Amino acid sequence: MNKISAAITAVQGYVPERILTNADLEKMVDTNDEWITSRTGIKERRMAAKGEALSDFGVKIVEGICEKRGISPLEIDMIVVGTITGDYRFPSSANVICDKAGCTNAWGFDLSAACSGFLYALDIGRVYIENQTHKKVIVIGADVMSSIINYEDRATCIIFGDGGGGVLLEANDEGYGIQDTILRSDGSGREYLLQSIGGSKEPITKENVGSPGQFVYQEGQTVFKNAVRNMADVAAEIMERNKLSSEDVDWLVPHQANLRIIDATANRMGLDKERVMVNIQKFGNTTAGTIPLCLWEWEDKLKKGDNLVLASFGGGFTWGSIYLKWAY
Ligand code: UT7
Repeated sequence: MNKISAAITAVQGYVPERILTNADLEKMVDTNDEWITSRTGIKERRMAAKGEALSDFGVKIVEGICEKRGISPLEIDMIVVGTITGDYRFPSSANVICDKAGCTNAWGFDLSAACSGFLYALDIGRVYIENQTHKKVIVIGADVMSSIINYEDRATCIIFGDGGGGVLLEANDEGYGIQDTILRSDGSGREYLLQSIGGSKEPITKENVGSPGQFVYQEGQTVFKNAVRNMADVAAEIMERNKLSSEDVDWLVPHQANLRIIDATANRMGLDKERVMVNIQKFGNTTAGTIPLCLWEWEDKLKKGDNLVLASFGGGFTWGSIYLKWAY
């Protein structure tokens, strides 16, 4: 019997309707379109509607996947959600999504790895499919960043947006699907990108409500330097390990944190712009949402057998790369 691999068999993205442009931000903080565009590549980002939570994104993603694949939600065995902005601290958004989308035969959980959440979750899904204990696993990467951003802090509010996507993983015995994974973390980087209040280390109290620690803090330059080095390193490493030359890679699917980080990774891999998925200008940095949002937008252009290299870097620090062969 041929080796079983985990292949993506459907993709669905979701972004909320409301658009927050650089011009809108100019009215909120001391910034300007020229600075944001030249430093990050971002022109606009999406914002969740009032009351719209992570599970609402997830339900739309699951429904879209089931419709595209022509399957019932009852056939889903497991849902893993990469996110740092779940509906509640507990229960997990995966539980809520399973309930609201009618996936009553599925179990699941949320996974916290910030911008690498989708890659980490994809690798978990891979294991359950390869072990053949589960037939249909949905992996979601999504975030409602607007729920943890301080819109008076120009260092963070210009970057982040809301949205995400998901994929269906199924067994493949023809050699398509996930070929290799490299995942890394370094917790000593935690102080440079974090939300410090609201966990067990510093619970929310009457005194600290509204203080800066309640929102995302980022030391941009330090994160930038680490992101450029590690994302490029890990993408190059997965190419080397799988004997892939620049010509062999059809698509780089990079986390969308900053266009300069994406360019540095593509340069290191020897890829021209035509083979790099970039939608940061429209959606900004949706944390765990960026990579599935790219796959969703590029789905029509992908061909069976295409070699994709997914790469991310984010808070934690967490980073990684996944090499897969597109299966449809
Ligand atoms: O997705 C998870 C991982 N996150 C990342 O990968 C993000 C990594 N970091 C970055 O993308 C960049 O560091 C930023 C886009 C966040 C910032 O860009 P930068 O080129 O590193 O800017 P900087 O922080 O070094 O600031 C340069 C200047 C400073 O002014 P002075 O000191 O040179 O006078 C800042 O005060 O730009 C100023 N500045 C701004 N000006 C206009 C900082 N933020 C803004 C702003 N608008 N929003």
